[in-house]
Amino acid sequence: MIDKNETADALFLRACKMQPTERVPIWIMRQAGRYLPEYRAIREKHDFLTMCKTPELVAEVTLQPIDIIGTDAAILFSDILVIPEAMGMKLDVIESVGPVFDDPIRTEADLERLETDGILDRLDYVMQAVKLTRERLNGRVPLIGFSGSPWTLATYMVEGGGSKNFSLIKSFIYNHPEAAHRLLRTLSDAIVAYLNSKIRSGCQAVQIFDTWGGILSPTDFDEFSLRYIRYICENLQTDGAPVIVFAKGVASFDALADLKCDVLGVDWSRDIGRVREEVGGRKALQGNLDPTLLFAPKEKITTEVRRVLDAYGSGSGHIFNLGHGILPKTPVENAKYVVDCVKELSLEARQTEISAAGVLR
Ligand code: CP3
Repeated sequence: MIDKNETADALFLRACKMQPTERVPIWIMRQAGRYLPEYRAIREKHDFLTMCKTPELVAEVTLQPIDIIGTDAAILFSDILVIPEAMGMKLDVIESVGPVFDDPIRTEADLERLETDGILDRLDYVMQAVKLTRERLNGRVPLIGFSGSPWTLATYMVEGGGSKNFSLIKSFIYNHPEAAHRLLRTLSDAIVAYLNSKIRSGCQAVQIFDTWGGILSPTDFDEFSLRYIRYICENLQTDGAPVIVFAKGVASFDALADLKCDVLGVDWSRDIGRVREEVGGRKALQGNLDPTLLFAPKEKITTEVRRVLDAYGSGSGHIFNLGHGILPKTPVENAKYVVDCVKELSLEARQTEISAAGVLR
């Protein structure tokens, strides 16, 4: 039986709740992935979806970055697209192309094909993977579960894969707004059930990825993305697990800061200190080193890590991360270096703060 609280005092969870920590915790989006030779060795033998559906492989791959680069949280190896797949859309993840659906949603009638009844049964492999991964982690670091936002899932379901200008999904929302809202509502209900089930199965935090929120104008973002994220946040049964919302490329944090969540992700295009001012202490912040900086020399990485830590400033509520996922060709050595750098520099900074103030804030 898993003790839900075994890592409750973990740095990462405390920082999410804006409680004092002795240093800044770090994890990296897409930390379980192709930049690790150990990941590639397993991936050579199995296709991507088979990996997602095999709890043994999920647990193994999820633990790799904890052992190899030393991050302060694990994120369950899976994909945001397992939800549309469980609704009956055939998914292929093709090397150097990315995810592809061969029968995308293009008309209102296509929505009838989506099978929502029994979806949690079809996603039970994820819950089994969560349980096994918690066991294997054995309390070392907390386990994060995740989902795509309704908007971001809808972009893939309508485009049929990645996209350059998102003309198909945008045409869909402008020409068939009612159908679009129906799709987004269907996804929202599935996501609430899915994340609640992940939390019940042992995830100690959850992150909602709105990777494509930033392609919408501010008014369309409110209408087609934010309102559904709000609905999800209000309907999660978190049992104390922090909720992280990462909306990449959004114009404003003000409305996000009123969501019923604990942490907001910040991409690298923003100054995290300015975002902190805008958010005004309403939420902890996660971010925001440019992922391509991991291709820079170590001195440059050090300077930029220090810049992000200084930009956030003193006090609790900062979780260090990249501004988006780590890139497949990143040198492992640099991924490890950034983790060590954040640990050391933030520990030093915190000790200076403590000796100045006499307490840990
Ligand atoms: O963060 C982690 O380590 C956990 C694993 C994780 C994956 N995908 C594994 C994966 C997470 C959190 C995701 C989320 C995800 N998936 C998002 C949101 C986050 C983001 O980066 O914006 C999105 C948009 C997807 C959809 C998706 N799945 C894409 C665009 C791709 C191709 C990416 C690429 O670089 O080729 C995938 C496939 C995928 N998901 C891979 C991994 C490790 C690569 C698959 C492979 O091994 O070939």
